[in-house]
Amino acid sequence: MSGSQLSQSRGREALAIDAADSAEKVPTIRLQQLLRSYGHGESEVIALNSIDFTVQKGEFVALMGPSGAGKSTCLNMLGCLDRPTSGHYFFQGVDVAYLSGEQRALLRRHFIGFVFQGFNLLNRTTALENVELPLIYRRVPAKERHRRAHEALEKVGLSGREKHTPGELSGGQQQRVAIARAIVTDPALMLADEPTGNLDTAMSQEILRLLTQLNQEQGLTIVMVTHEADIAAIAQREVHFLDGRIATDTTRREQSE
Ligand SMILES: Nc1ncnc2c1ncn2[C@@H]1O[C@H](COP(=O)(O)OP(=O)(O)OP(=O)(O)O)[C@@H](O)[C@H]1O
Ligand SMILES: [Mg+2]
Repeated sequence: MSGSQLSQSRGREALAIDAADSAEKVPTIRLQQLLRSYGHGESEVIALNSIDFTVQKGEFVALMGPSGAGKSTCLNMLGCLDRPTSGHYFFQGVDVAYLSGEQRALLRRHFIGFVFQGFNLLNRTTALENVELPLIYRRVPAKERHRRAHEALEKVGLSGREKHTPGELSGGQQQRVAIARAIVTDPALMLADEPTGNLDTAMSQEILRLLTQLNQEQGLTIVMVTHEADIAAIAQREVHFLDGRIATDTTRREQSE
């Protein structure tokens, strides 16, 4: 069934169930001749120029490239925050191009966790409450919400800091809270935009270790934008953008004994 049929003939829950059901059989992400342009005529900018790109479940991919190359446009697209001008984006088999804004919001809420450079935490709110927020949007009952938020904070090594507000935490700890918030819904995909951009070297290393651990131990699929080669190097796969196209796409082979 195509995305447009799906949006016309089926309810919201059907969409979520469709995407979840197909998770084991299809790639998490498949972009097909995807084009995103801004403006018209002489002022038209082609931010993504007919790209093909597939990410399988469990991959850790770093997106790199110079300023203006199309990385953020691509990440917004992958996060269902934007729609292609032409071409297709299949998220777990569902064509996002044909979904309404409401259905894309639902996909985001159920399947995607975001981590940003600036943490984006609520300042007057405790770590626990920040992590619970996506579960409130999903109408998870309070008791289960607390349990899952505690569990997510434990996974990122922040047990004992549940009552702290962001101002009472270091930058690295704040980013851990943001990561806990991203994983508390058990998403199919984590999108990270320069997640270590505001952190010093030691804290960056801590966050990169955590992302690697979530990828390797929990099988979390991660797509991360970064400007720095040594940060990209922790991912198994590096995709370099140039002028809206994918210039290189390299998967690192595991070292065999
Ligand atoms: N809302 C918009 N309206 C018009 N043009 C845009 C818009 N957003 C992005 N662009 C253009 O699309 C191109 C790709 O931008 P994008 O933000 O994806 O680059 P980027 O690789 O993320 O760069 P940076 O490393 O500086 O963040 C650029 O030429 C940019 O000017
Ligand atoms: Mg950008």
